[in-house]
Formats: sequence, C-alpha cells, structure tokens
Amino acid sequence: MANSKYEYVRQFEQPDVLLPNTWIVVRIDGRGFHKLSNKYEFEKPNDRRALNLMNAAAVAVLEAFVDVGIAYGVSDEFSFIFQRSTTLFDRRASKLLSTFVSTFTATYTHLWPSHFSSTPLSSSMLPTFDARAIMLPSWGNVRDYLAWRQVDCHINNLYNTTFWALVQKGGLTAQEAEQELAGTLSADKNEILFKRFDINYNNEDEMFKKGSVVFRDYPSTTKPHTGDTTPSSLPQPSTHPESTAIPSVPQSKTQFEAEKTRRRRAGIVIRHVDIIGEGFWVGRGGMLGE
Ligand code: GTP
Ligand code: MG
Repeated sequence: MANSKYEYVRQFEQPDVLLPNTWIVVRIDGRGFHKLSNKYEFEKPNDRRALNLMNAAAVAVLEAFVDVGIAYGVSDEFSFIFQRSTTLFDRRASKLLSTFVSTFTATYTHLWPSHFSSTPLSSSMLPTFDARAIMLPSWGNVRDYLAWRQVDCHINNLYNTTFWALVQKGGLTAQEAEQELAGTLSADKNEILFKRFDINYNNEDEMFKKGSVVFRDYPSTTKPHTGDTTPSSLPQPSTHPESTAIPSVPQSKTQFEAEKTRRRRAGIVIRHVDIIGEGFWVGRGGMLGE
C-alpha cells in the first residue's frame, strides 16, 4: 500500500512490549461486582453459579490461547500465567490485555444464561472487567504471586463466611458483625463458626476455601521438584530456587510445534487445591516453562 501523507501519525503509537524471559500474568477483575452481585442476587458470601461461570470463561480463554499455562481464580478475578517463552502478540501488553479481557467478557456474557437461567442480564448493568499485566522475573516470584492470591482467598473467605453467619444465622446487623470481627484472628473466627453456628470451617466447599486452579492436565517433561510435598494454606517465606537470569536455550521449531500440539490436545481441568505448597507442583513446573 502506498504511503499517504498521513502515515506519519503512526509514530505516535508507543511500543509496549513486555520484557523477554519473564513470566507474564494477565489478571482480570470484575468492575463494580459489589453492585452487580447485589443486582443479580448472588448468594452470600459465595455464589456457586457465579464462580462456575467465572471458571467456564477462564476455560474458554485457555482453549483459545495455548500459551497460557495456568490460571487461578477467586471471587470476581482471574490470573492467567503464560509460558515464560511466549511470543503471543510479540508480547505486546495492550494486545494481550485487550484480547484477554474481551475474550473473557464475551464468554462470560454468552454463558450467563446457562448459569443464571432465571436471572437474565439487564442492559442497565452488564458485566465488564478490567485487566492488568504483570511481569514476574523468577520462578520464586511466580509461586509467591499465586500464593499471594490463594492466601487472599483464604483470608477473605474465612472473614466473609463468619460475617455472613453472624448476620444470616446470628441475626446481627452488618455493622454489629463488623464490630464483632474487628481485631479477630483466624482462630477466633473458626471458634465463632464452630461454637455459635456448629460450622466446621474445614468442611466448607473446597472451591470457596481454595479458589479455582485451571490448567492443562498433561504429564510434564520436566523433572519433579524435590522437597516438602505437604500442602499448606498458610503464607510461607519463599524457598523456591531463583531461575537463571540467562534465557534458556531456545527450542527447535519442531520441538516448539510438538509441544504446542501436546498442549492443544491436553484436557483442561478445574481443581480446587493448594498451590502454595510443593505438592501441586511436583512434575508440573513444565506447564509454565520452568
Ligand atoms: P472494582 O473491582 O474496584 O471495580 O470493585 P468491585 O465492586 O468489583 O470489588 P472487588 O473486586 O474488590 O471485590 C469483588 C466483589 O464482588 C466482592 O466484594 C463481592 O461484593 C462481589 N462478589 C464476588 N463474588 C461473589 C459471590 O460469589 N457472592 C457475592 N454475594 N458477592 C460476590
Ligand atoms: Mg472487582
């Protein structure tokens, strides 16, 4: 195509390529879901339909983009973590973010009726999401990122479960429940649930307690990690070996294509498991190129 005199305006487009050799995370988050969950009468504190719908939209994203190794979701958010070596959209942040958030939102809206059959979406409040990109420079940072989100899930869910038990079963107002919980520790909340409401927090739904891990279930080619395999739900200092700062030797084109085909063919699964401890990661680091 011939250049026109207007062509120069291209220069105003800024490059936004994310750093090579880093793990890219795209985290999407529902906009104003506090209001939206009230309008569509989500169950409190956890609505199984809403969480399953989030998970279904995340599966669609993994199906569409084979470069995503794992996704973790809780409440109205989902983090998608790419293979370290991804070259999707030449690692351009705005392309990645806009494509992911629109694929997620379109699927969420499309699948809404099959999850909320008796509550149609109203044009006055449609679900929308924002997105950000984060670059993580080491495997330790990747593990700590996921641990951060899962610990957040645990803290929020324990608080919300106790808060709503006090309100729904204990007859307290929201303000009274908030005052009652101010300054309490995890053990106090567990005790309130058990002693006053006969609820053993350990028996709560795993999806509520642990969030949702979405990944391709295929055997990794990398060697299993050694060490502690005990799952843990508490924050621990990072003990993961730092990744090399030097990019790994690039795969040959044939290896690269074979790996892509393997990933494309693998089934995508949703699990509600601990991803903080080593247990989950034994033999699975390969799905993120570790
Ligand atoms: P922005 O993200 O800043 O736009 O605000 P937000 O209103 O979406 O709040 P935020 O993302 O911090 O938190 C998500 C909110 O969504 C929660 O505080 C809840 O109000 C609501 N939410 C998410 N999942 C559920 C659910 O399963 N049940 C209910 N009742 N509410 C939920
Ligand atoms: Mg939100």
